[in-house]
Formats: sequence, structure tokens, C-alpha cells
Amino acid sequence: MSNFAGEEQSGQSIVRRATMDVAAAGTCTRSKRKRRLRCLTTRGISVNTSYSERFVERVLAVTSPQWLADELARTERRGYIFEPLRNLIAGLIDPAEATACDFGCGRGASTICLGRLGFQRVIGIDPKPEAVEIAKMRAQEWGLSSVLQFECLPDTLSSPFPSGHFDLVLCNAVLEHIPPSKRREHLTEIGRVLKHGGLLVVNGTPNRWFAFDGHTTKLWLVPYMPLRMACAYARLRGRVWGSGTVDDFVAAGIRGVSLLELRSYLPKKSFALELAPDRWVGQHYLQTSAARPDEGRLVDAAKVLLVRFAQVIAPALRPMGIPMTVFLPQLSMVFRKR
Ligand SMILES: C[S@@+](CC[C@H](N)C(=O)[O-])C[C@H]1O[C@@H](n2cnc3c(N)ncnc32)[C@H](O)[C@@H]1O
Repeated sequence: MSNFAGEEQSGQSIVRRATMDVAAAGTCTRSKRKRRLRCLTTRGISVNTSYSERFVERVLAVTSPQWLADELARTERRGYIFEPLRNLIAGLIDPAEATACDFGCGRGASTICLGRLGFQRVIGIDPKPEAVEIAKMRAQEWGLSSVLQFECLPDTLSSPFPSGHFDLVLCNAVLEHIPPSKRREHLTEIGRVLKHGGLLVVNGTPNRWFAFDGHTTKLWLVPYMPLRMACAYARLRGRVWGSGTVDDFVAAGIRGVSLLELRSYLPKKSFALELAPDRWVGQHYLQTSAARPDEGRLVDAAKVLLVRFAQVIAPALRPMGIPMTVFLPQLSMVFRKR
């Protein structure tokens, strides 16, 4: 379920990166209890984490050691989800008065971030029972069980929530995992459960307009190829997900989302795009990248250059309602339901 498909990491580098981040766990907006990182070794893998051994073992039961660092970083590095999310919604909503839905909550990392932002009530939904079970454990570990609720819904299209129920719906690293043919229905359903004036936050989703697929295959031009060709090319280059079928690649997130695609599901007459300040958008992207397990200095430098380039171009397109995020590999956008 990670954003970092194809990433390989040794236990040692997991420790190195995590150690650099001791201060990152910090305190949260809601609970002032400090979460202290300590070195935990289990099943021969060492991680610096504030989570219990039981939690880490539970995650390891469903994911490989390579993904463990990413899963823990999602909540233990503030720059990964928490801070970008906080800046994205700053001034747009008062969490203390709001009910939020974490659509595709997975193992609860993004739900924890909503809880930490002080939302009055948060409901995380996901089709995967084992993910929801871990999400519940995670909420306990953060002392947020009274605020966060989780539901496993095998079909998120038939949700039990009445129309206009939520002030905010978050799709964090989710839309790319929904087959393109089903995205319209899902976004229509999300639109239904949102209140008028409510926010839809799309964050951490691969941008289909960006030429490099950094999410699933780590290959150039994959986003521009027809789906079958992209999967065949990925297989040829040794990238295999599941049994290597097109459906497996789609479930893994090979098909990102474009602004135009989102706009076709969320028409202007029903959803206004809230344009975040360009400096924040660039900062989010760099923060999220830095919070992830190591990608190397050259890649980091290329990302900074990309942000600088986007910051030069973006102001010219802003009056046309085109946000800076469309120049970056990942989309971060907020839509307000009219
Ligand atoms: C990369 S995970 C993101 C989890 C979480 N939002 C986070 O940021 O940590 C993607 C999640 O999307 C969920 N998902 C896939 N298809 C979905 C659908 N149709 N409706 C809701 N969630 C879905 C998957 O089960 C998975 O847990």
C-alpha cells in the first residue's frame, strides 16, 4: 500500500534515517503527550519508533520489512502527511467544529493526522479488513480512539453515511488505487457525503501529467502510455506486482490522476478549487519527499530544482485556475463543494 513501490532498503538504513528524525515525532496539536522514539529490534529488524513491539509485529505480518519504515514514517515524520495536510486546510476549515472522513484510510496513518489536527470526529473507511484492524491499533497507540472511528466497507460506493454528513473528506494516496473506470462513481459518492461548503482534500496522489512514475514502476513515460502498454513495458523492465496482470498494476497505483480528470468528475459549477499559496505547495512536496526513506542526494537536488522551476511558471497560470501542483509528481489539492 505504500507510495514507494519498488523501493529497497536495508534495516540499517531504516535506522539511520529514523535516527536523524528523533525530534520529528514531537507533540501533536490535540494530545500534548510526547511520543519518544527508541530503537526497537524485532524479527532481526531494527527501527527507531514510538510504536509498541506488538504494533510493529502486526504491521510486519502484512507487509515486508522494506515497507515498514515507510509505514511508520507516515505518522512519525511530521513532514510526511501531518504538516502538508495542516497547511493545505489552514484557514479553510475549523477542525474543532468539523467531522471528517478519511476515505481509504488504510492502516490509519492519514486518520491519525486528522485526529492530531484536532477534528471533532473522524471516520476512516477502507475495504481491507486487515488494514482497518491495524488502523484501530494505531489509534489506540496515539490515544485517539475516542475521536477516531474505523469502518471496513468492502464496497465504499455504498457507504452508510447520509448525504451532506462530512465537513471534510480526505483522499490521501488513495485515488491512484481505484481503477480509472470507477473513479467517477467514487468521487460522486464522496461529493454526496460532503456538506455544501465542505472540503475534499486530494493529497499524495501521483500526477498523471508528470512524465516519471515515481509511485509504482519508477519508470519514465509510463504515465503517458496507454495502460496495457505501460504494464507490458513495466513487466519488460522487471517491475512486477502481484501476478503481473493489468489489474494488479492498477491496484498498485500505476495510473495516476490528472487535474483534467479530477475536473471531469468534479465540475466547476459544483466544486471550486481552493488555490494554496505556491510556496506551500513546493514546501509540501519537498517535505513529504524528505520524510520518506532515503532516495539519494542527486534525487533530492533534482526535486529542489523542479520546485524552483514550477514556482517560476506557476504564477502565470494561477489566474486561469491552474494550481502549481500540476507541475509536480504528486497532486495536493483542495476542492470546496459549492
Ligand atoms: C496507499 S494506501 C493509503 C492509506 C492512507 N490513506 C494513508 O495515507 O496512510 C491506499 C488505500 O486505499 C484503499 N483503497 C483502494 N481502493 C479503494 C476504494 N475503492 N475505496 C476506498 N479505499 C480504497 C486501499 O485499501 C489502501 O488502504
